[in-house]
Amino acid sequence: MNVEKGYVEAAIPEGIDLKAEIKRLKEEKGAVIMAHYYQQGEIQDLADYVGDSLALAQIAAGIDAKIIVLCGVHFMGETAKILCPDKKVIVPDLNAGCSLADSCPADEFEAFVKAHPDHTVISYVNTSAAVKALTDIVVTSGNARKIVETFPKDEKIIFGPDRNLGNYINSETGREMVLWDGACHVHEQFSLEKILELKKQWPGAEVLVHPECPRPVRMVADVIGSTAVLLKHAQESPVKEFIVATESGILHQMRLSCPDKTFIPAPPKDSTCACNDCSFMKLNTLEKLYNALRYEEPEVHVDPEIMERARRPIVAMLEKSV
Ligand code: 13P
Ligand code: SF4
Repeated sequence: MNVEKGYVEAAIPEGIDLKAEIKRLKEEKGAVIMAHYYQQGEIQDLADYVGDSLALAQIAAGIDAKIIVLCGVHFMGETAKILCPDKKVIVPDLNAGCSLADSCPADEFEAFVKAHPDHTVISYVNTSAAVKALTDIVVTSGNARKIVETFPKDEKIIFGPDRNLGNYINSETGREMVLWDGACHVHEQFSLEKILELKKQWPGAEVLVHPECPRPVRMVADVIGSTAVLLKHAQESPVKEFIVATESGILHQMRLSCPDKTFIPAPPKDSTCACNDCSFMKLNTLEKLYNALRYEEPEVHVDPEIMERARRPIVAMLEKSV
């Protein structure tokens, strides 16, 4: 067994029922599987909890289990570890990063913070633990607007790293937060033109948009929200057709919970690529999940000093999200 590549490299025994074995190992080891909505459907189906980034953090904070297998990206595993330092937190493939988190290196963010000394620092959860350690309060797409609005209207605020989410909150709240210039490579790919073409084909469809999408795409949205908000809207709306502008994994829960409705993934600008798939999220596979449970690796580790400093803004977020 080898974890040098960031996931367990070990042969899968021939002829095993992978899904049954994952369930058996999970019970045997007292582990829980948590999955983000962008994971492949088979992983979501095996998970004890499926949710958006906010729900995953809230669940991790109160979980009673020895091992958390977080099927999502690295920052989600870090958040769980920071909230549960005594538990073993495993991400099946530690290479599952995030282009948005990568667009905000901690040393550059620190210089940005220092250049704005009298500002409150609000960071999106899609950041490294080191960036969270420089932050006053963390937000997710599910609570960002609400949390920003808890500050006085004239509060000077730095918001990072997603310029699209920051720009959305600025326009919704009339604030002028100073924005870090970062973005997610998946959500940047959605285009207004492609959605308008789809609208001609599906004139009655509602357009569901994640706030990480650029402004022109947000302009044609019927609903803008986190993955959980978009899912809930699809479940509750009397409308039967939806154009979905976020990562394709969310369609799994939408189709499962609304079998009588039609969900159309918005195509990326360049329709020859599958860029509405988050390549990082999709690094986790059933095989890696199985080996992760089998060997209890690869574990998420966070520097103890950073962990202490990063916990405070995450807890501050959870306290404002009840
Ligand atoms: P949610 O907070 O909506 O789950 O989104 C997480 C994410 O990574 C969006 O790209
Ligand atoms: Fe990060 Fe974008 Fe993937 Fe979300 S979809 S995890 S923001 S790279």
